[in-house]
Amino acid sequence: MELRVKRASRIDLEITVPGDKSISHRAVIIAALSNGVCTLQGFLPSEDCMHTVNAMRALGIKIEQPEPTTLIVHGKKRVLTVPKNEINCGNSGTTMRLLAGLLAGQTFESRLVADAGLSRRPMDRVIAPLCEMGASIVAEGPDQTAPLRVSGGSLRGIHYRPSVASAQVKGALLLAGLFARGKTTVEEALPTRNHMEKMFNYFLVRTATEEAGSVTVFGDQVPESRDFAIPGDISSAAFWLVAAAAQRRGHLLIRDVGLNDTRTALLGVLLRMGAQVREAVEDVDQLEPRGIVEVTGFPLKGTVIQGKEVPRLIDELPILSVAGALANGRTVIRQAGELRVKETDRIAAIAHNLRTMGTQVAELNDGLEISGPAPLHGAQVASFGDHRIAMAFAIAGLFAEGETIVQDAECIRESYPGFETMLEEFTNPKRMQVSTPVIGSLSPTAPEKG
Ligand code: S3P
Repeated sequence: MELRVKRASRIDLEITVPGDKSISHRAVIIAALSNGVCTLQGFLPSEDCMHTVNAMRALGIKIEQPEPTTLIVHGKKRVLTVPKNEINCGNSGTTMRLLAGLLAGQTFESRLVADAGLSRRPMDRVIAPLCEMGASIVAEGPDQTAPLRVSGGSLRGIHYRPSVASAQVKGALLLAGLFARGKTTVEEALPTRNHMEKMFNYFLVRTATEEAGSVTVFGDQVPESRDFAIPGDISSAAFWLVAAAAQRRGHLLIRDVGLNDTRTALLGVLLRMGAQVREAVEDVDQLEPRGIVEVTGFPLKGTVIQGKEVPRLIDELPILSVAGALANGRTVIRQAGELRVKETDRIAAIAHNLRTMGTQVAELNDGLEISGPAPLHGAQVASFGDHRIAMAFAIAGLFAEGETIVQDAECIRESYPGFETMLEEFTNPKRMQVSTPVIGSLSPTAPEKG
């Protein structure tokens, strides 16, 4: 499928975005391990998350889906049954890495398979620590890649310092830690998204933070069943936030979006680039903070993104690169080598597509140097099978002269069903409710420190 994009009309919208992908995966897994029935609302029914749902079903968990965004998960007190077949993780790295952790703690053998894209991505980052805990995991692909054959069993807790900043690695080890003897500690040099820790706390699984940057889970615990409403995904909101920020006087209000501060670094960057940004947490009773984000567009200026900011906006770097192309001056992204092992090599993909649309870009080993502002011209751009590349360049198309065609855009369904319909509202806003400015009543977003 190809996506054809026209120039944006004046942006003045109030919208919501689908449920958070990272939280959806984790909620299903933890609810399945709990001691009762959990109703999850606001679930993201995307292809990636459905791979996790189907995997848990294959492991003997009853999961009802009365509506696309509601799941009723029948927890079985950590009892999983031997899957009849191999478990297909599709293109979902989160499914594969979290399940590797979960299955490492089971007494049966299972096999995790992936599509061609995920089969190229590194799995040694979870295999090594899980084997250190006592599991046996054989990567059947070249260079420690999928399929993975996981034989679990008797695990012991370890203290582990991952060499890459990865919430998927942390999540895999914490899940394995639930089934291990003693305590399992993950010590991170740079903090990553903390949804697993928050969810453990919410489901009354005992954790501890012995020092800043480390999290410990104690083994042999059963999560207490809980209902939970998943907030909108700030990483999906990012596409529309950048569109509004880059349009002079564009105005966008997004309601009911997740505002976990390990995920909101994008807002600080947009503020630094010159947009007006406000966020207001409206609900802190639930385990994840959620609320309103409001952006007003101004001429943007280039910025530098590096260091501890990187893991906190890792999924937003493709769309921030597009913001860089629309901004005045240079935007530099460094220390983001992880982008090379995402759904595609995102550094190469961004550089290729930005050049195709007329932007001057230098590709660095660990990032990009983008010279803006470029008068973007409509062109045929490739998704490289990567949902975030496809969506980022659809947004670039909103600012291009002439039509932009994003090829192989079906991958968008992995994280954002409904993206195309929302995109139409940005080019032809007929049905959408026009937003009332609320700036002034919200507290300003603090710029990212350090
Ligand atoms: C995710 C963590 C990130 C992110 C991915 C989702 C998660 O990956 O890029 O989209 O849910 O844990 P890494 O942990 O590999 O950085």
